[in-house]
Amino acid sequence: MNLFLTGATGFLGGELLITLSKRNDIKKIYCLVRAKSEEEANKRLKHVFDLHNDIYQPEKIIPILANLLDDDLKVKLSAYKELDDINLIVHSAANTSFSKNCDDQVKKVNINGLEHVLTWAKELKNLETFCYIGTATICGKDNKDKIIKEEESPNTLAHHLVTYTYTKMMGEMMLDKFLPQEKILVVRPSIIMGDSVNAIPRSSVILWTLAAFNYLRLIPVNKHSKIDIIPVDYAANAITELLFVKNRSYSVYHVSAGVDSATDSELCCQKIESYFPDKPSHAFVQRKVANNMRFWAKGRMEDIGDLANYPNHLDYWESILTEKGRLRILFAGLEPYFDFIELGQVFDNTRLLQDITLPKPLPAHEYILNNIKFLESIDIYEGAIDP
Ligand SMILES: NC(=O)c1ccc[n+]([C@@H]2O[C@H](COP(=O)([O-])OP(=O)(O)OC[C@H]3O[C@@H](n4cnc5c(N)ncnc54)[C@H](OP(=O)(O)O)[C@@H]3O)[C@@H](O)[C@H]2O)c1
Repeated sequence: MNLFLTGATGFLGGELLITLSKRNDIKKIYCLVRAKSEEEANKRLKHVFDLHNDIYQPEKIIPILANLLDDDLKVKLSAYKELDDINLIVHSAANTSFSKNCDDQVKKVNINGLEHVLTWAKELKNLETFCYIGTATICGKDNKDKIIKEEESPNTLAHHLVTYTYTKMMGEMMLDKFLPQEKILVVRPSIIMGDSVNAIPRSSVILWTLAAFNYLRLIPVNKHSKIDIIPVDYAANAITELLFVKNRSYSVYHVSAGVDSATDSELCCQKIESYFPDKPSHAFVQRKVANNMRFWAKGRMEDIGDLANYPNHLDYWESILTEKGRLRILFAGLEPYFDFIELGQVFDNTRLLQDITLPKPLPAHEYILNNIKFLESIDIYEGAIDP
């Protein structure tokens, strides 16, 4: 079996690359990589393995230098005769930015880029499965505090918090225009954060927000809103099982924490609190206080409203913030995450647990302790600038 993987240098794609490379029934994994040279591409792929000291097999992992935005991607990929034998495609590459500044690029990569791959894939004679890594958040923002099932999406009437989820929905809806239904497998992870093993997480994607909460200690979200979070290793193991399970019952699966393993902000923050005894305890405040925080950062003390009730936090911020203005950068980056948290959505994982042997994932407030020693090394401003 030969596999073609996109997004292998990313958070989930990297973990998938490692997990898939350990399977003996996979001969070669061809990875679409953005790089200027073969040497650079190999280096980027090797780095994925080096991060957790996994065994890199260069004879099995072959880079294919390309960009999803290449208009001639089909021609480029077709020129590689070895790709004629691809049996399995896992399309994990995407632009995952929540930032409005990136909307154009997000649309291009997630819609046009996918179309380029599909145009090539539909001609492959030996293709058995095209696995599209979607996202459970394509359900949009309308269904608050609900358990969401796979069949509720895609819904073209859904309203989206960010362009990213809209483009992922459009991408998913494009698949059957190119491929027969029996070749399509859609996996929709919920929110992927950190790693359940004690290792440097593959990426600080999403984890930077917990690091930011830990830094700020005053958090303008409903502490009881349910959040569906899974660790990246669980996501990769579950997706890999789904790829190889005999007689899959469905073509679409949530890869999620589900009702039993969902968490909330309070549980996660409580768990980490005792590791940072010098900080004030976490306080959860009404969303409107976020504005007061911005005013505080601007020095407009007459506008800080309810924030005045948290003098310990204000003293603490005075002591840690060399430039108050940076707080506004942090808030601008956190804003979409506050919105997502407050949706209170949990993604039903009954289908997944029925078809794979993996047990339920650990809730984030349990596995997060494995990531605790890396939390303070995360550059939260970097996360906020490119959320
Ligand atoms: N992370 C989550 O919480 C989450 C949750 C649900 C679903 N998902 C889905 O999971 C998939 C992987 O997400 P992730 O978190 O691993 O994202 P990520 O860390 O941002 O990785 C994105 C990957 O896509 C590649 N890529 C982006 N633009 C490209 C282009 N124009 N041409 C070729 N490659 C390109 C990147 O390559 P470079 O390294 O060259 O930039 C990188 O390998 C995505 O489809 C996402 O929608 C993620």
